[in-house]
Amino acid sequence: MTRILVLNGPNLNLLGTREPGTYGSQTLTDILDRLETVAASRGAEIVGYQSNAEHELIEQVQAAKSLGFDAIIVNAGAYTHTSIALRDAFAAVAVPFYEVHISNVYARETFRHHSHLSALAAGVIVGLGTLGYELALEAALRAHPIR
Ligand code: DQA
Repeated sequence: MTRILVLNGPNLNLLGTREPGTYGSQTLTDILDRLETVAASRGAEIVGYQSNAEHELIEQVQAAKSLGFDAIIVNAGAYTHTSIALRDAFAAVAVPFYEVHISNVYARETFRHHSHLSALAAGVIVGLGTLGYELALEAALRAHPIR
């Protein structure tokens, strides 16, 4: 079965109440439930993991291959803009990943304009709200058909 890790970084556990004008009203559970339904209908499996801790995200990326994940959908939150260590983890494991940002980071503060991850990503989806996760899943499922 195609397995996809959905990795969310700091403060994304607060979705639903966190700056709803920027991030919308869906909770992370709502998002993962929807992804699970879509994945199941396509014979795939998603596993959600959220952490506010940089090292825990790095450990998940490091383990992704041995845990049998075919691809990773990642919203690394603010670590996107700061974490060379997370970038190095993605480079080390070479599991294809899709970077998602709910908000249009390019229309926001300049410190959000740079991502340490994008150059390594299979694709980047920015500014399409929580739909971005679903679009990333669609891309991942097309690239990694059911096995
Ligand atoms: C975010 C954008 C980041 O700049 C921010 O730090 C987040 C969320 C997004 O989904 O739009 O935590 O990744």
